[in-house]
Formats: sequence, structure tokens, C-alpha cells
Amino acid sequence: MKEILVTGGLGYIGSHTVVALAEAGFRPVIIDDLSNSRREVLDGIAQITGFRPAFYAYDLRRRHQVKEVFEAHPDLAGIIHFAASKYVGESVEKPLLYYENNICSLLNLLNEALAAGVHPFIFSSSCTVYGEPEQLPVTEDMPVQPATSPYGNTKQIDEEILRDTAAVEPLRVIALRYFNPIGAHPSALIGELPVGVPQNLVPFITQTAAGLRDELKIFGNDYPTPDGTAIRDYIHVMDLAEAHVTALNRLLEGRNKENFEVFNIGTGKGSSVMEVVKTFIEETGVDLPYRITGRRPGDVTAVWADTTRARKELGWTARRTMAQALRDAWQWEKKVRNIEK
Ligand code: UD1
Repeated sequence: MKEILVTGGLGYIGSHTVVALAEAGFRPVIIDDLSNSRREVLDGIAQITGFRPAFYAYDLRRRHQVKEVFEAHPDLAGIIHFAASKYVGESVEKPLLYYENNICSLLNLLNEALAAGVHPFIFSSSCTVYGEPEQLPVTEDMPVQPATSPYGNTKQIDEEILRDTAAVEPLRVIALRYFNPIGAHPSALIGELPVGVPQNLVPFITQTAAGLRDELKIFGNDYPTPDGTAIRDYIHVMDLAEAHVTALNRLLEGRNKENFEVFNIGTGKGSSVMEVVKTFIEETGVDLPYRITGRRPGDVTAVWADTTRARKELGWTARRTMAQALRDAWQWEKKVRNIEK
């Protein structure tokens, strides 16, 4: 069984990917600094998969810690790098934290990976690199727009670091540009559990439905969209997790066509904030107090993925619906809050 290093493996997307990896016969090894995750996530992973991955509560900014993990696991077959700070608003307040955490960590990881001869590398990128796209759906060839936040900038810089390195080193990289991951594992044993007040839409919805928040604020209904609310491409986190396994296998089997490849990972379908809210209410039957407020600075009007390249080249498409993702997110929230309804 091949060992795969998963950084940020106790986080939201990381933990679901660890499950998908274990179910595909890999042995994930996790590094996570627990800055936006919890150690108990390991129990959920173990319950679902019957396998308890090796875990290091390490900080990738400390190079000696990264080196130690590569020394402890000399047979690593590949790396999936999730560990990063991810909040657009916070990144504006704390740019140095974002540049240090999202860029120094990548540099340390790459230096140690190359020293250890581990070359397959999957990177968590984001549709944020497209900014406000000129055409929809957005394809991978569309221009990367100047970043509007330090967070977005770190994703662009990290892609450049990886592209430049893969041009001269034996590194083989796939950058997955995620659209909006939502939902939870259907077992409700793992899910999204942000530390503090949620910034993203679906955890805010489920926490409001659970009574932790008074009301959901819908940020703007004056966008040039059919119902006036902003449009995103919401993808079930298990579909996204499986995309990582598919991309990893492409690299392990040497089927990549370039040493730096980029794929959009979304459903190809855009949904408005209001559609998400309505679907949540329909699917769960739960009351969800909401109110329209002003736009959130930095938000784009609409973005959804052209998924042709992922389908044709990777052989991957999203299989689950938004409704299913919202039901799974709600099951998870209820489990976490001990709600019986
Ligand atoms: C953003 C980034 C994405 C990043 C992600 C991580 C873009 C296009 N996307 O996603 O790259 O990885 O953050 O945090 O920059 N909304 C509300 N009320 C709320 C919360 C959100 O109305 O309480 C609305 C937002 O205005 C937006 C939609 O819901 O229209 C989705 O918001 P969110 O879940 O925060 O994701 P993005 O901003 O799309």
C-alpha cells in the first residue's frame, strides 16, 4: 500500500480526501498544525475507513519538522498539499500571516520533497485565480486575473512556484482549481467545522438552522443575475475528494501530459445564494431566518466551471447533487450539536 503525505489532512477538504485515499487503498500520512481543525477528526476517519493514519501536529513553516516526516516515511509515493490559510477577509487584515503560511510552507515542502525524491504533487488551488471572469463557464485557459486579496495572491504565486519548479526539476504537479466545496461525508462522522464564526455560506446556513446564529445575511440581491444574488458552483466535498485520488493516480501511473497541469474541479452548474437557501429549506424542512444585506467587499458576481478538461483528461466528473450536499451538511451539523430532529 502506497503512503501519501497529506498536509492539512485534518481540515475540511483534507479529511474527506484522506477517507477517499484510504478507501482507494492508499495509506495517508497526515501533517496538520490544528490551526483550523481538531485532533478528533482522526477518530472520524478511523471509524469510516477502519484505518488510523499516522499524524504529525506539525507546522510546515518549520522546515526541520517537514524534514522529520520525510525521514520517518522514506517510501512516500506522493503529496497532496492542502495546508493553508483560506479566508479572503482575514487575509486582507493579516497579509503577512497569509504570505508566510501559504508560501513558506510550500517552499519547505517542495525542498524536502525534492531532497527525498518524492515527485507526484497535487496542489489545492482555487477558482479565485479567475477573478470576475469575462466568460462563463470558465475554462482553465482563461486568463488569471490580478488577485483582489492576499489569499488569492498566495494561490497564484503558489501555482507559479510549482510551474517554475516543475519546469526544471523532476516534480510532477497537478493544481486543482476548486470551485465551492460544500457538504460532508454521508456517515456524518466528518464534516466542516470552522473555528469561530463561519465565513462561508453553507456552514453559516447550518449553524443558523442549528440555532447558533440568529440569522443568515445574504450579501447582496442587486447583482446582475436572474434573482439578484451571486452565483457559484457548489460541489460536494466527496466529489472533490475523489478528484484528488483520480489526479494522484494520473501522476503515479505517469499519464500526465505535462509536468504542471491545471484542472477546474466543479460541477459545471452555477447556483445563486437564494437557490442554495431555498434548496436547504426544502431538503431539511428546517426554518432558516435570513435577511438581505449589502454586498460583501471582494465578492464576484458569478463563477462556475467548464469541466470539459477534467472529464476528458482526468476521467472525473462530479456525481452528487447540491441537494444531497446540503442534506449531508445538515446531518453533520445536527450530529455535532446533538440535535434530534
Ligand atoms: C471564496 C473564494 C474561494 C475561497 C473560499 C474560501 C472567490 C470567488 N472564492 O469563496 O476561492 O477558496 O472563499 O473561504 O473568491 N454568502 C452570503 N452570506 C454568508 C456567506 C456567504 O450571502 O454569510 C454568499 C457570498 O457573498 C457568496 C456565496 O455566498 O456569494 C459563497 O460565499 P463563500 O461560501 O464565502 O465562498 P466564496 O466567497 O465564493
